[in-house]
Amino acid sequence: NVESSVSITVVGASGDLAKKKIFPALFALYYEDCLPKNFIVFGYARTKMNDEELRNMISKTLTCRIDRRENCEDKMEQFLQRCFYHSGQYDSEEHFAELDKKMKMKEDGKLAHRLFYLSIPPNIFVNVVKCASLRASSANGWTRVIVEKPFGRDSESSGELTRCLKQYLAEDQIFRIDHYLGKELVENLSVLRFSNLVFEPLWSRSYIRNVQLIFSEDFGTEGRGGYFDNYGIIRDIMQNHLLQILALFAMETPVSLDAEDIRNEKVKVLRSMRPLLLEDVVVGQYKGHSKGGKLLPAYTDDPTVPKGSVTPTFAAAALFIDNARWDGVPFLMKAGKALYTRRAEIRVQFRHVPGNLYRRNFGTDLDKATNELVLRVQPDEAIYLKINNKIPGLGMRLDRSDLNLLYRARIVCSYMKTFNSKQQHNQLMITKLKLWGKRRTGILLTNYNNTRILLHLHNEAI
Ligand code: BG6
Repeated sequence: NVESSVSITVVGASGDLAKKKIFPALFALYYEDCLPKNFIVFGYARTKMNDEELRNMISKTLTCRIDRRENCEDKMEQFLQRCFYHSGQYDSEEHFAELDKKMKMKEDGKLAHRLFYLSIPPNIFVNVVKCASLRASSANGWTRVIVEKPFGRDSESSGELTRCLKQYLAEDQIFRIDHYLGKELVENLSVLRFSNLVFEPLWSRSYIRNVQLIFSEDFGTEGRGGYFDNYGIIRDIMQNHLLQILALFAMETPVSLDAEDIRNEKVKVLRSMRPLLLEDVVVGQYKGHSKGGKLLPAYTDDPTVPKGSVTPTFAAAALFIDNARWDGVPFLMKAGKALYTRRAEIRVQFRHVPGNLYRRNFGTDLDKATNELVLRVQPDEAIYLKINNKIPGLGMRLDRSDLNLLYRARIVCSYMKTFNSKQQHNQLMITKLKLWGKRRTGILLTNYNNTRILLHLHNEAI
């Protein structure tokens, strides 16, 4: 019955990701009592700073939700008092050994678990993991590392990265994350499919005409060109965020909700996918344009983008899953930066009603009459089903209407009332739902043996 502690080290603590997302997320977890009793947060980066300066930097990014402001200041102060800083080089074993010493002091002889969050560019992942594992691993508890994408550029470099990391870590210590898996609507995809009778029987080539996975942003690279230009939109968005959604969408019912069982089903989908043909892909790059009277730069006008770059900022592709369920159904992925709107959606277009009695009401355009299920991941989460409906009144005029579940209007309030249970499970649900603001992002941690939610990030509190 030794008391335990968890130390969370944010490596790259002075960077943008850490400031904008990681520290606010950790505070949100603390605020919602989701962190263990004895937790400590360490910031590690090259910038020279002391604990006070780190706290000062973090404090500017912390926010509380509007309905929980009463003890916000106190909570922030308590959280900041648990934050410490150590300045060091990313490839210095000696500096990580110093960090280890500091951690030991704070851990005070407890069973010490350690988590390293790599909020750093991928070219230094291995250096950090080497130094952290050799010199700052926990002596008596677990040591884990969270890595975000880009995890290599292709299967060869990603395999190489895994091989390098495995010199220092076992697979179950490495958590590769995709933050789209923590988005509320993406998490809800399996619930929608597997806990409602009405959808699953329709979830196949017999009823579905095509599935569209859409990601668009209404802003360009804006100074992130140094990173983006090396990867492009396909690696930045499609092969991770959209492919994860596709796999969840298309998989067979897993044996259980265990991570391994879900992973197995996703792998089967990926293995059944037809290799993508060049003729099924369109790529593009945004040019300078004006919006609302404002002139916006072209991709190549971004000073962080190499001159004459031909890296795609837009791509659309038709993917096919050659299995019994999905044979012939196109999965259309579309992703782009600096487009008209910011949105992420899954659109499921159903087939025509055979011999539709009302077809004359739709004229020649029968596509107008098909049902469509839309899962709007962001902004303003919603699930709606487009159905045909009689317009009230004399005669038989038909109209397309939405059966609409708009989260903002419906769920936040009612769930808060419904889930008042003491059970841990339900408390977790409440926690997740309460984190909803205008925008909220979560992250789901996955590794080969396990999938679990560790953190819920929310980028902007209301
Ligand atoms: C990141 C990409 O993974 O996701 C960015 O690197 C993109 O280019 C971002 O802007 C989008 O995430 P979100 O949660 O803001 O939709």
